Amino acid sequence: MPDVQGAQRFELRDAVAADASELAELTTAAWRTAYAEILPEGFLGAMDVSAREERLRERISDPGLACFTIVAISGGRCVGFVSGGPARATADGGEVCAIYVAPDHCGRGFGRSLLGAAAARLADAGYTQARLWVFTRNRAARRFYERCGWRAEAGRAYWRRDGLRRQLTCYSRSLAKGARLDEARLETAITR
Ligand SMILES: CC(C)(COP(=O)(O)OP(=O)(O)OC[C@H]1O[C@@H](n2cnc3c(N)ncnc32)[C@H](O)[C@@H]1OP(=O)(O)O)[C@@H](O)C(=O)NCCC(=O)NCCS
Repeated sequence: MPDVQGAQRFELRDAVAADASELAELTTAAWRTAYAEILPEGFLGAMDVSAREERLRERISDPGLACFTIVAISGGRCVGFVSGGPARATADGGEVCAIYVAPDHCGRGFGRSLLGAAAARLADAGYTQARLWVFTRNRAARRFYERCGWRAEAGRAYWRRDGLRRQLTCYSRSLAKGARLDEARLETAITR
């Protein structure tokens, strides 16, 4: 890797249970910022950080789950993460289940590196196709996925919680041999 002057070094690694608290805080901050126009303030304000932390800890610690969580570490803190595993809604393929970058670190290449690492991990697990779901109204994330080579599919689904219902759009990409994975190296540098 070229040693770019002024570049900010960061590391991608598998999450450990001790990351759960930071990841729960990060997810909550990302939802409150990115979904302010999509979900009601009351719902976002009432998000339960400790329940989310517990779910994350269980998922990270369960070796029986064919799921992974990869974190981006910069300046000694977790600034983003991606998780994935077998597709939940279809019988075949892999899925990127969640990707969040801390609001003060968005737009600096962390998301692209994390998404590339998730695609590489799913390809290594033998999947030839990956999917993910995004709020249809989350235009920023949809542009991000499109810039990273994912394509919107025709199908629609709905996210439902606490009496709320929001449309989701499915994105997919090929992981077949020969597909350009934009694979992230485990230690890399942000140059912008
Ligand atoms: C969506 C998210 C993961 C993207 O991560 P990021 O670190 O901000 O994105 P990057 O800096 O790696 O950008 C990668 C590419 O996407 C583009 N992109 C990122 N955000 C964009 C936006 N809001 N509008 C247009 N393009 C965007 C970048 O320009 C870049 O393209 P380029 O490399 O060709 O210049 C991050 O912004 C985030 O966590 N958002 C809030 C939570 C969220 O919506 N998560 C997705 C849930 S489905």
